[in-house]
Amino acid sequence: MIEFLEVKENKEEYMPLLLIADEQEDMVKKYLYRGRVFLLIDDGVKSICVVTDEGKGELEIKNIASYPSSQKKGYGKKLIEFIEKKFKGEFNKIIVGTGRGTNTVNFYKKCGFIESFIVKDFFIDNYDHEIIENGVKLIDMQYLEKTI
Ligand SMILES: CC(C)(COP(=O)(O)OP(=O)(O)OC[C@H]1O[C@@H](n2cnc3c(N)ncnc32)[C@H](O)[C@@H]1OP(=O)(O)O)[C@@H](O)C(=O)NCCC(=O)NCCS
Repeated sequence: MIEFLEVKENKEEYMPLLLIADEQEDMVKKYLYRGRVFLLIDDGVKSICVVTDEGKGELEIKNIASYPSSQKKGYGKKLIEFIEKKFKGEFNKIIVGTGRGTNTVNFYKKCGFIESFIVKDFFIDNYDHEIIENGVKLIDMQYLEKTI
């Protein structure tokens, strides 16, 4: 049976899973402590998601990851559905930023997100090394959004 659990203490315990989505630890720490952390559990932890209150009724997904052996099994989508239900009424919209031109954009589109705006050179300006995802060098951040 699938369960969802909020992590309120010792959030760093999940750093290895968080680093799958965001490989620079100091960048993860920028949002981990002010964020709310949720796990999807199905006979063990399968996925994690960190969301932050960005004001103006916007909830931002800062990190979402499923363990490699648990990807493409529907867990990521279920975790987003859980977040939507939990925060509906409290927030108007969920926003998320990811590498422009990556496959992850398609994951969010499958979850009902639409493209909103681009932050030029985000990965060049904010990370201390090149980030390569499936052979694509990340440069710009593509934001997507979903009204809830
Ligand atoms: C992106 C990620 C969180 C998706 O989680 P997941 O558990 O694999 O997602 P799901 O199985 O629920 O996928 C939902 C849908 O999106 C599709 N999808 C998942 N990952 C995808 C990808 N990388 N590219 C394209 N489509 C993808 C699935 O095929 C599925 O489509 P369907 O509904 O037609 O079957 C996961 O692949 C992951 O941890 N990736 C590495 C970390 C990462 O890049 N995180 C995002 C950083 S912004």
